[in-house]
Amino acid sequence: MNNFSFYNPTKIIFGAKQIAAISKEVPANARVMLAYGGGSIKKNGVYDQIIAALGDRLVSEFSGIEANPEYETLVRAAKQVQTDNIDFILAAGGGSVIDGVKFIAAAAHYEGDPWEIMTKGGKVVKSAVPFGAVLTLPATGSEMNSGSVVTRSEYKAKLPFGSPLVYPVFSVLDPTTTYTLPVRQVINGVIDPFVHVMEQYMTYPVGAHLQDRLAEAILQTLIDVGPQALAEPENYEVRANIMWCATMALNGLIGVGVPQDWSTHMIGHELTALYGLDHAQTLAVVLPANLRVRKADKLAKLAQYAERVWGITEGSDEEKAEAAIAKTEEFFFNLGAGTRLEHYDLDSSVIDTIIKQLESHHMVKLGEKQDVTPDVSRAILQRALADS
Ligand code: NZQ
Ligand code: ZN
Repeated sequence: MNNFSFYNPTKIIFGAKQIAAISKEVPANARVMLAYGGGSIKKNGVYDQIIAALGDRLVSEFSGIEANPEYETLVRAAKQVQTDNIDFILAAGGGSVIDGVKFIAAAAHYEGDPWEIMTKGGKVVKSAVPFGAVLTLPATGSEMNSGSVVTRSEYKAKLPFGSPLVYPVFSVLDPTTTYTLPVRQVINGVIDPFVHVMEQYMTYPVGAHLQDRLAEAILQTLIDVGPQALAEPENYEVRANIMWCATMALNGLIGVGVPQDWSTHMIGHELTALYGLDHAQTLAVVLPANLRVRKADKLAKLAQYAERVWGITEGSDEEKAEAAIAKTEEFFFNLGAGTRLEHYDLDSSVIDTIIKQLESHHMVKLGEKQDVTPDVSRAILQRALADS
């Protein structure tokens, strides 16, 4: 196991009717900004519960944070934080709203050009407005981590930043808020955490037995509950398990002391920025192709994954690996996600553009061994084109 330090200060408040608990978590005299997206929280009652819980506190609202949050929008919100003297932000929504609030919190205290927060990957963040979250779409893990992804459409750029200063102070996870999710977002909410686990697990063995078993447990749980969530949208137990899996997949715990990959995510971000696929849709396309192209490098872990997660015990390591990749792809496809570029009406003409964008974002040495060069990314995209 590699050396590591682990730090995660976010308090999780989990369960039905827990939104009321924010009355005790937000400082009593805070000037609060309530930040949210396109209005789903107004339709499903989450907004009303939050307003009731905030009671007499002064609340300034900022709505309209887009899916794949836009830089320009977030800069406007950061200005509102400054002009309204906000000292606590509450994010209510999915990963996009929470990621957006992380950027707003950092940008409101940043003295230079806020775009530097993105181009320097968060290293320039020295202070941020404290914030909490009410999660309504389990998928990204943003509710318990210090990462954020921001889009700047004018540059066709979708870039990540991270800073220990942007962990949420608390996050409320009430599984009943997810009952109103559209089917596509339920599917996304199974695939995104699945791939988060894979990017931290599917590398090479370093003797981190607990991390491996935790990763496998999350994968197996998602394989069980994913289809159930589609079949029974108001099954509390199922929703609760998906929600906790998504948080555990990317709160840092399973990733300590192990090599990490993240090439699927970085290639996927370019697909979203250029062609508007949902984040999880990009992952469903890129992961199977990525595993096939880099099968030899990942063979030991692929064989372990085949045996422990999918129960594939017959054949050589190579055969088990291929069977497990096929099972993974089938799992995504059966949930309802396209797993090839052609399923999103994209053909080989997009590959050069994606590679150019990866190069311009310095995404040229990806993967656990930094050997996913633009040539390897090209091979992955070619493999992802169409059913073979
Ligand atoms: O905007 P509203 O009206 O709230 O509607 C949202 C949005 O249209 C809707 N929604 C959310 N909760 C709902 C609901 N609709 C009905 N009922 C509910 N309970 O769902 C739509 C999508 O929401 P979004 O927040 O965009 O989805 P998701 O949580 O998948 O977040 C995706 C973003 O997170 C980034 C992605 O790149 C993408 O920008 N990621 C963030 C990560 C992190 N911070 O660690 C890691 C991830 O890998 C990912 O990159
Ligand atoms: Zn993701």
